[in-house]
Amino acid sequence: RAGLLMLGIETSCDDTAAAVVRGDGVILSQVVSSQEDLLVKWGGVAPKMAEEAHALAIDQVVQRALDDANVSESDLCAVAVTVGPGLSLCLRVGVHKARKIAKTFRLPIVGVHHMEAHALVSRLVNKDLDFPFLALLISGGHNLLVLAHELGKYVQLGTTIDDAIGEAYDKSARWLGLDMRKGGGPALEQLALEGDPNAVKFRVPMRQHKDCNFSYAGLKTQVRLAIESRNISTDDIPISSATEEDRQQRANIAASFQRVAVLHLEERCQRAVEWALKMKPSIKHFVVSGGVASNQYVRTHLNHIAEKNGLQLVCPPPSLCTDNGVMIAWTGIEHFIAGRFVDPPAVDEPDDMQ
Ligand code: KG4
Ligand code: ZN
Repeated sequence: RAGLLMLGIETSCDDTAAAVVRGDGVILSQVVSSQEDLLVKWGGVAPKMAEEAHALAIDQVVQRALDDANVSESDLCAVAVTVGPGLSLCLRVGVHKARKIAKTFRLPIVGVHHMEAHALVSRLVNKDLDFPFLALLISGGHNLLVLAHELGKYVQLGTTIDDAIGEAYDKSARWLGLDMRKGGGPALEQLALEGDPNAVKFRVPMRQHKDCNFSYAGLKTQVRLAIESRNISTDDIPISSATEEDRQQRANIAASFQRVAVLHLEERCQRAVEWALKMKPSIKHFVVSGGVASNQYVRTHLNHIAEKNGLQLVCPPPSLCTDNGVMIAWTGIEHFIAGRFVDPPAVDEPDDMQ
């Protein structure tokens, strides 16, 4: 396995990322170019802008990943690329690049599911992590509880009926006037440290539904209403120029939001653990991954759920929780070894075919 070298390319959302990973899990390079300025300017991901930013960055990002790893394309066993889910305009940029390399260097392509990659990167981090395991995947667009039976066989125990938790963090952060450059989530987590988590009484979503699904749209609205009812003028006054009292109010809202947002995760995860252990008593690990899993408060609280149930929490380091090329390359390796890949494109195929 150590002889295999996989290039991973990720362009499903706002980060252009590439990495080279060895078959035994050694990360040889990891490059991420994020669209911070665009995010601030447009208040979120605007697909057309994001596509252009990916198109501008992709060649350099891939070249740097190869250079940093000190390998050339011809050393690779295959190219792994995210094929979904995500913004199709953005995905195309990565797929196009992967096909170009595959065609020129006669390499197989492994198409990777972005959420599967968030889950499987935990197997690179923890070599003892065998199937089956339970995974909570929390990002900007997804909120999934999955029972991973084996490679490629996943049973969904729960999903969001509206927004994902990352979306709620991002919108709340924007409404609180936080600096969005590093993403709303990290900024809100930081501010919440200064606040009282019991100051604002937000309702925990979906308590009457005894299942493993999630809902964050209502909590988002509760945050909006809390801001409006306190007359905090967050739209025009960024947190950096807020008065001390105003800042404290915003911190209280942030901390209270985070407490309830994570309590909702805990309640659904507790139920999912019980379901999963009934179906597969051999489960030993609880994986938590995706951008929101880089949050320390989230990690601490989900670790508690894992320990309470005799499971080991596996939560990748923050740089592997948020979107990255390593998880794509690693998932590519898993599938490549299992024989799941597409042969190199024919020489006379047009480059833009997908
Ligand atoms: O997995 P990811 O990088 O991209 C998607 O696949 O969506 O997740 C991005 C999400 C964003 O909503 C971002 O605000 C959130 O993860 N996030 C965080 C933190 N870091 C990133 N949310 C809460 N706390 C954090 N520290
Ligand atoms: Zn993601």
